[in-house]
Amino acid sequence: MMADTNPVPSTVSGDFEPRIVAFLCNWCSYAGADLAGISRIQYPPSIRVVRVPCSGRVDPFYILKALQQGADGVLVSGCHPGDCHYLTGNYVARRRFAVLHDLLGFFGIEPGRVSFSWVSAAEGERFAEVVREVTERVRALGPSNRLADARLTEKAERAG
Ligand code: FES
Repeated sequence: MMADTNPVPSTVSGDFEPRIVAFLCNWCSYAGADLAGISRIQYPPSIRVVRVPCSGRVDPFYILKALQQGADGVLVSGCHPGDCHYLTGNYVARRRFAVLHDLLGFFGIEPGRVSFSWVSAAEGERFAEVVREVTERVRALGPSNRLADARLTEKAERAG
């Protein structure tokens, strides 16, 4: 799922640059990101985009897996209410997000690391603004290695 080919850690010489996995709905938010790029609207290079058919296809497990594999934050973005190309996918996504958001603390993850937004294909500037906000929120939280560290510790213990 998360194919980060960049071996450079997210902290380079003390400056923390968050790595944020962004699950973007193909029909709206991905097109909004595309519009931001075409319009040369500046936003932080912190996101790694995963294009999905609909925000309703983002399983909460994908979000946890991204965090486990080293992402500092996750953004899920879909069509505005009433605009989902599969009618109710974005409502399903919003409900799942609300439940997951409440459970993150239980897993030891700051809820601010996971964000949900609506961005349409015509909202390049809004997309850039969402990325700026999410990046600043995650930057303020600092690197998230909790799940990755737990996994490495578990592996090391198993190896003896
Ligand atoms: Fe965009 Fe469903 S098609 S959220």
